[in-house]
Amino acid sequence: MADPIIYVSARIADAFVKVAGALADGVDPAVRQSDHADAQVNGSLALAKAMGEPPRDVATKILEVAELADVCSNAEVAGPGFINLTFANEFLARELVASSTSAKLGVRSATILRRVVVDYSAPNVAKEMHVGHLRSTVIGDALVRMLMYVGHTVIRENHVGDWGTPFGMLIEHLVDSGEVSTAEELSVGDLDSFYRGARKKFDESEDFQNRARARVVALQSGDVETLRLWKLLVAESTRYFQTIYRTLGVLLQDADVMGESSYNSLLPQVAKRLNEQGLLTTSDGADVVFPSGFTNRENQPLPLIIRKSDGGYNYATSDLACVIDRVERLDASLLLYVVGAPQAQHLQMVAAVAKQAGWLQPPHSMVHVSFGNVLGADRKMLKTRSGDTIKLDALLTEAVERAASAVAEKNPDLSADARSEIARIIGIGAVKYADLSTDRIKDYTFDWDRMLSFDGNTSPYLQYAHARICSIFRRANVDRASVRKITPTIEHPAERELAMRVLQFDSALWDTLDKYSPHRLCTYLYDLTTSFSSFYEQCSVLKADSDDQRRSRLMLCDLTARVIHAGLDLLGIDAPEQM
Ligand code: ARG
Repeated sequence: MADPIIYVSARIADAFVKVAGALADGVDPAVRQSDHADAQVNGSLALAKAMGEPPRDVATKILEVAELADVCSNAEVAGPGFINLTFANEFLARELVASSTSAKLGVRSATILRRVVVDYSAPNVAKEMHVGHLRSTVIGDALVRMLMYVGHTVIRENHVGDWGTPFGMLIEHLVDSGEVSTAEELSVGDLDSFYRGARKKFDESEDFQNRARARVVALQSGDVETLRLWKLLVAESTRYFQTIYRTLGVLLQDADVMGESSYNSLLPQVAKRLNEQGLLTTSDGADVVFPSGFTNRENQPLPLIIRKSDGGYNYATSDLACVIDRVERLDASLLLYVVGAPQAQHLQMVAAVAKQAGWLQPPHSMVHVSFGNVLGADRKMLKTRSGDTIKLDALLTEAVERAASAVAEKNPDLSADARSEIARIIGIGAVKYADLSTDRIKDYTFDWDRMLSFDGNTSPYLQYAHARICSIFRRANVDRASVRKITPTIEHPAERELAMRVLQFDSALWDTLDKYSPHRLCTYLYDLTTSFSSFYEQCSVLKADSDDQRRSRLMLCDLTARVIHAGLDLLGIDAPEQM
């Protein structure tokens, strides 16, 4: 085990049982970080209460039986009956070597390995991806990487919006504009102008409206020519989405697309199964389910519409089909939905109906990994100056351009090729990190200067620290692999602080996965990097006092760099060796 706190927790838990037997059952033995020592045990108070004995006596008993000799240099009763623990430097050194030589830098694998579906990105065909889809893509991809890192089997699903009534007008607009020019427009990402063109005709011409409606019917009844035109729209849009994914460096592939339409053949079955369970009722001519616990403002029960009065199925129906497919076909036990906050109620109702119908029973569960908006400097939704949706590829191009000038300033000696590659890594990383480093539930303000700064909780700061460590090894001409098994001597307080941080990679990642909140990992990496900076300021590495000290400090440098690299990689961000 890597995080010393987790290691010690297990020993304390044993001691609780030795002291109190079955009475220890209900008491949390958790050891926590402390301002007074390395770690603190608070559960001794609760244990004393359960035993009906004075807390300080109980704490003393715990210390008598706890096996801490090899891990703590000091363990003492404090205040009303807490226990303060100080880790032995030799123990930290051993743990560092264990992390350094382990495949996952000390991160524990999951004890229960699950099949997890992560539903993310999910843009809509013939519509520009907006910043909300950017958030879903970036957050979802980070979670995919973290879940895989701890050993789960992860299935990525891109629930592209590729079905529904708007396709009537979109296909008619395609017919009017001609297939070649439509394909051109869509493949360069002019999705919004195409959509707006269709919308405008629809609003202005009754004849067009009639054509569009007839087209929806033709699409739903499987008319061959209509399906061909529909596929053209889908193919051109997904091609454009893929270019964005490649620029962003996310894992999503064409094969991960499971659009709404892929559930079409299951939709009648959803209705049938709901009906057989007696859950389906008619309301205003539509087939609906009233999941318990959902009401509108007037306290009326809220329906989830399964089949509209015109016979068409709904967004919610595909999502129910989706649950069935993910649980029954894919055998996934955890379904994550990385979707914006406005769809919270929709997803809650889908989950409620799926549970009532018996399709989603423990250990199967679904979790809405919700997120807030991206705001502009005016604190309103991020838009272009003319008020249009921001085109994602334009935004990413700008990020790389801005990074290029920052790199030119910082390191004028780089070759043009190296500079443009590094600018790409820094620019894209900055956009992703800015998104990931704030609590996803909250809105965040898009701010170029802040995200591209080499100071503060930003990816350039972390990438720069990583590159700096790489350069230490280059200058010293030391092979990084040669220091990995060295047991470091921890003497200086800054070495000790850095050691503690490095060892917390394990718990930081688990803490992140616990809440599906990538900003926790970001905060950890930022703290680690700050600890490294102060270590590097206070402790000479290449000019250390002795060869042993130099090798020991190089070992700490290498391990720090690997944790930063691995941490950024889990966020989907590259870390170049020089910049
Ligand atoms: N395409 C939808 C949108 O743009 C998001 C889909 C989210 N996933 C889902 N299974 N409903 O709003």
